[in-house]
Amino acid sequence: MARRAGGDGLSLTLGIETSCDETSVAVVEDGRKILANVIHTQVALHEKFGGVVPELAARDHLERLPRLLELALENAGATPDDIDLLAVTRGPGLVGCLLVGVGVGEGLAAAWTKPLTGVNHLWGHIYAGMLARPDLEPPLLGLVVSGAHSDLVRMPGHGRFEVIGRTRDDAAGEAFDKAARMLGLGYPGGPALDRLARSGNAKRQPLPKPFLEGLEYSFSGLKTALLYRLRDLGEAVTDQDRADLAAAFEQSVVESLLAKLDVALDDQPVAEVVVAGGVAANTLLRRRAVEVVGDRARLTMPPLELCTDNAAMIAAAGYFGGGPTPAEVDPSLGWER
Ligand code: KG4
Ligand code: ZN
Repeated sequence: MARRAGGDGLSLTLGIETSCDETSVAVVEDGRKILANVIHTQVALHEKFGGVVPELAARDHLERLPRLLELALENAGATPDDIDLLAVTRGPGLVGCLLVGVGVGEGLAAAWTKPLTGVNHLWGHIYAGMLARPDLEPPLLGLVVSGAHSDLVRMPGHGRFEVIGRTRDDAAGEAFDKAARMLGLGYPGGPALDRLARSGNAKRQPLPKPFLEGLEYSFSGLKTALLYRLRDLGEAVTDQDRADLAAAFEQSVVESLLAKLDVALDDQPVAEVVVAGGVAANTLLRRRAVEVVGDRARLTMPPLELCTDNAAMIAAAGYFGGGPTPAEVDPSLGWER
């Protein structure tokens, strides 16, 4: 039976996320309450290649979406009739993967005669904060740390973002993934490095703390420092050395990320801070962010499953922020709508 047969006046958004290696479909009520958020991760598919293979990723999204769509509606207790808005990631991401999501979204919008909006994936990471804390409202200061981004943004209102800091070279997630590879850890590297770092001591193998003037980040020097350290250790490297280096690398990235957040918060105080994106799943970052923000603002860090890519955050961003219709794919989209 249709969930909203009684006409409860609530608005349901169906979100679709396929920008990289997670396929996800979600149903979100009024942009804040998750009724369903099903996620299929392609880790097993890409593992043997040591990274995401775009063609395989795109094909897998297409194969999985119909079943995930069914599951999401079933979990939400909703029918296509109940859906008021379709929201699909239009960028940034892998072009073939985005085309699959947008294509499926357009097909559903036509078949169900529902509006479709193309959503900025980066906005989604911030809107994960609204799902985690339904009373969260802009203005806020956001730090989005993912596989391709390390961005500090101010969000004065819904659908409005101003970038105040970004990376000059590698993103934090990319740095973690590359460091993990050097340390002989598999894909995905970030979570593996996080686990290894827990048994290490950063003080035993200190690495430089990247520091740039202003609010910019740079992680490529740190990556080179790790490479040289490993080269110096050569065959003699022990498991403990590797754990210590993982801890040191993690500490340098985390302290660099938070140093800029600290400055931005001092420069222009704001009541709400959101730290989100895949790297916000990192254990040390989560602990240190609480200490650095302190009582200057309320800090929201979405739970792990909302930090990594998912469609609920896309539904929330589509509901509040909207995006272009038709949902034009843009693989290198910045923070603009
Ligand atoms: O946001 P996300 O799921 O996908 C993108 O939009 O890029 O972020 C993925 C990134 C990867 O680089 C992954 O290694 C990193 O987030 N990551 C982590 C952790 N979990 C995921 N990095 C460090 N520690 C973690 N626990
Ligand atoms: Zn992401």
